[in-house]
Amino acid sequence: MIRIRKARMGDVEKMQDLVNHHAKAGRMLARSLLELYENLRDFYVAAEGGRLLGTAALHTSWEDLAEVKSVAVAEGRQGQGLGRKLVEQCLTEAKDLGVGRVFALTYVPGFFEKLGFNRIERSELPHRVWAECLRCPEFPDCGEIAMMRELPRKRRSRRLKKAGKAVRKSAGRKRS
Ligand SMILES: CC(C)(COP(=O)(O)OP(=O)(O)OC[C@H]1O[C@@H](n2cnc3c(N)ncnc32)[C@H](O)[C@@H]1OP(=O)(O)O)[C@@H](O)C(=O)NCCC(=O)NCCS
Repeated sequence: MIRIRKARMGDVEKMQDLVNHHAKAGRMLARSLLELYENLRDFYVAAEGGRLLGTAALHTSWEDLAEVKSVAVAEGRQGQGLGRKLVEQCLTEAKDLGVGRVFALTYVPGFFEKLGFNRIERSELPHRVWAECLRCPEFPDCGEIAMMRELPRKRRSRRLKKAGKAVRKSAGRKRS
């Protein structure tokens, strides 16, 4: 059975093999072990027993903004919905975090379009996002396309709204 789950320490070397296999073919950015260990909590994997079939990461990058990155599915296991499931898991987490917009920089815009992303101008992304690009050997001539997906706001339950109101009211009383 294939499971989509949070990545663990023991996955890192296989994650790097998978991502860097595609990176060597120029399909995505390579990742160092250091980057993977430091950002492990961003990552989801698709795993079947001890085999790692896919990865994707959600990285919060700015106010209301997060990036989906390192989306990779093993050769021979593509076209079976794993990429979609991994990205959808990232989008679910983004919603839970209260993120309103998720972007990706990619050479496969068609895949992201299927997942509700739209093409945008790279210049629409905040400068902070470019920090990673500066380390890329392709910079500034890479052909990656920027894609953005707007997420519906998670509605707060009435109970939470009421609790928030009560806290603000009592804070106001304390101040006066
Ligand atoms: C791109 C990639 C992640 C897609 O994963 P996948 O598991 O093969 O994709 P899925 O089976 O979940 O496909 C989801 C949808 O996207 C479409 N799709 C998949 N790859 C596509 C592509 N390269 N171009 C256009 N559409 C694509 C599928 O047809 C499917 O559409 P449907 O739902 O209408 O049937 C995978 O092919 C891969 O690892 N490629 C190499 C690494 C790479 O390019 N990563 C992207 C870096 S940002």
